[in-house]
Parts: sequence; structure tokens; C-alpha cells
Amino acid sequence: MTETQLSVTDFIYPMFVMEGKAQKVAVKSMPGVFRFSLDELLLELKEVVDLGIKCICLFGLYPEEKKDKYASESTKEGTLYLESLKTIKKAYPDLAIMTDVAMDPYSSDGHDGIVENGKILNDETIEVLCNMAVAQAKAGADIIGPSDMMDGRIEAIRNALDKEGFTEVSIMSYSAKYASAFYGPFRDALDSAPKFGDKKTYQMNPANVKEALIEAQLDFDEGADMLMVKPALSYLDVIKTLKENFNIPIAAYNVSGEYAMVKAAEEKGWIDGERVMMEILLSMKRAGADVILTYFAKDAAKLLR
Ligand code: PBG
Repeated sequence: MTETQLSVTDFIYPMFVMEGKAQKVAVKSMPGVFRFSLDELLLELKEVVDLGIKCICLFGLYPEEKKDKYASESTKEGTLYLESLKTIKKAYPDLAIMTDVAMDPYSSDGHDGIVENGKILNDETIEVLCNMAVAQAKAGADIIGPSDMMDGRIEAIRNALDKEGFTEVSIMSYSAKYASAFYGPFRDALDSAPKFGDKKTYQMNPANVKEALIEAQLDFDEGADMLMVKPALSYLDVIKTLKENFNIPIAAYNVSGEYAMVKAAEEKGWIDGERVMMEILLSMKRAGADVILTYFAKDAAKLLR
């Protein structure tokens, strides 16, 4: 009588890569999550692949001195992120790689777009995002993940990819991405917190669901292959709404803060962490998520075994 079942193929595993060698640095606010140097990441990926996980989402960690106003580092060949994509693809050709398209990991302002006089420049940012997406596709990305929330970027990125011959690289749009406090631990992991202000001029108001439909419709019309809701746990209604209105895959991003809460309560012995984890993931699937980005991917895959 079970209506919904979790499978390891439901998961995309977000991972963090950093510069250096033999580095495996714990993210303090995310027990069980590490920033890996590429050599260590390749070792870790063996375990990930052996567990049956089919896709990872890679994030790059940059030192402050490599950041600038225009996220220049993001498109330079031979740099950390692009080199990592290439190397992972070569080592694990059957593992799908989703990328992150946004300026914040490379931005000296810590924002997802270009900042001028305290404002985010939407259209100027789109040009940077297109170059970033093409550079990632060249390096072997399978799924481009624009997490920036600029308006009009899906169509621009689609056209840029197609023009360079990457017609088979797909786009998972962060369509309904809310301005959320649940991203805190992620910003610790990447040292990417905004240097001033917040992200409320481009990320969504947590009070809105009709607006999520508008954002999703725009991304759908512009050529997105998959639509994402982020965060997931406090936004199950948004996942359901998108699922009921669009016949393309819907993704849920079970974000860092959602992960951290479970791990913290588990460490204190206040909840049964494994059961809560599975219940949370199941609720996302029940709400309509076809795929779940989650830091629990390895833990859940082990249990599902
Ligand atoms: C930024 C980005 C964020 C996350 C993924 N990409 C944080 C933000 O918007 O500040 C959050 C992921 C998580 O919390 O797990 N482009």
C-alpha cells in the first residue's frame, strides 16, 4: 500500500571542492560534510559511485584573493572548478555532474550578481553567467544549475550553450529560490556570505507561492529542462504547486540548514536522526519532487541498501 518510495536514483549529492592537495576539511556546521581538494574528492567519489549515486552537484571554494567584482576566475581555463569538472568526468564518465552558475563563490561582494552602488545589475550579470555556463559545458558539465535568480538568464544561457554546440547540456533552473536563513551553513562551507545587505532583491519572499508560479513559468518558457524549489522542507507546498502545473521534472533542494538541524538534534540525542532523515526525504518526494539535492545522499543510500 506504500504510495511513495525513495530510491538512491532520486538523489543528487552536493559536494565542495577546494584548492590544494590531500585536504579533507570538515564543515563545522554540517557534520559529515567536507571540503575536498581534488585528489581527495576523486577518492570520495569512488564511494559515492559505489553507493549507486548517479549525479553530484559541485561547488567550488575560492580564497578571498581570487575573488573580484566580476567573478573573473569563473571562466579562466585551468582553474579549480573547471579543472575539477574535467578530471571528474574523465575518472567517472558515467557520473552526471551538475554545476553551479552564480557569481557568489567568485565575487568579492559575495553576491550572485554584479554589484554597483549597492545594487545588483541584472542584465550585466547575465553576460557573466552565460560565459560561466559555456566554460562549464566545455569542461564536461551535464547539467547547468543557475542558482543566481537573475531575470531572463535561462533563455540567455540556453542560447549561449546552443551557439557553442552544447545542445545536449541541460539546464536545471533554480526557479523558486527563496531568500532563506536555511542557507547559513552553506555560506560557511564556501565563505560566500554577502559582504553587505541581503539577497532579497533577487531571491524570493518566503511568503509567496503565486510568485513561484510566475518564476517557474518564465523559466519553462525560456527553455529550462527541470525546475527547482529551494529550500525544500518549509516549501513542500511550493514543490506540489509546481508539480501540478508543469510537466517537466521538479527538483527539491534539501539545503544546508535543513541538514544541519537534523544532525545537531541527532548529536544531542534529541531525535532519531536516521528516521527523521528518511521521513524528510520521503515528504519531499511525496510532495512531488522527482529529484532531491541532498547532503544526506550518502547516508540515505546506505540505509536504502
Ligand atoms: C548561491 C547558492 C546558495 C546555495 C546554493 N547556491 C546560497 C545562497 O544563495 O546564498 C545554498 C545551498 C545550501 O544552503 O545548501 N548561489
